[in-house]
Amino acid sequence: MSVLPIRVLGDPILREETAVVAEVTDDVRKLIDDMFETMYAAAGIGLAAPQVGRSERVAVVDVDGEKYALVNPEVSTSSGRGKTEEGCLSIPDIHGDVERPTRVTVRAIDRRGTPFEVSAEGLLARCFQHEIDHLHGRLFIDYLGPFKRRSAMNQWARERERYPNNIRLLTPAEIAKNLKDDHPHDEDM
Ligand code: NI
Repeated sequence: MSVLPIRVLGDPILREETAVVAEVTDDVRKLIDDMFETMYAAAGIGLAAPQVGRSERVAVVDVDGEKYALVNPEVSTSSGRGKTEEGCLSIPDIHGDVERPTRVTVRAIDRRGTPFEVSAEGLLARCFQHEIDHLHGRLFIDYLGPFKRRSAMNQWARERERYPNNIRLLTPAEIAKNLKDDHPHDEDM
């Protein structure tokens, strides 16, 4: 398994539509494994393929041990409405309140190619929606009001200088720390 470079806001791939996965091949499984490894290395709770520069419709999630590889996921039903702060591994250090449905049912294909359905609420439901958004070129900042979005973008304008070519490389020290920590999650996704 490999920790992959993470693409940050400004990389066009984060705004592109992904391609439906026709068949879950060994290549797709390798991508899933590398994405889990990268997500844990970055202390995240979710990661979508465009965030590692790939265009397959694939995401991974691990919220408090509820671990899912999602191939071609879609939200089939949703209900409720709630606002909670979100952050994204591709927009480090920027956070904002996002209003979303609080309960969702997601349909997807697993790493063996078997279709499944999962119902979730709370953080897991939020993470599923955040990752599925990534697979359609949407980011959490798109949900912020104009004032909040402008202030987030001003902050990002300073932060992004740390990521030449829109690439976030985790240092070996960061990776070691996050992989060792029992509760590494900072809830970015
Ligand atoms: Ni994200």
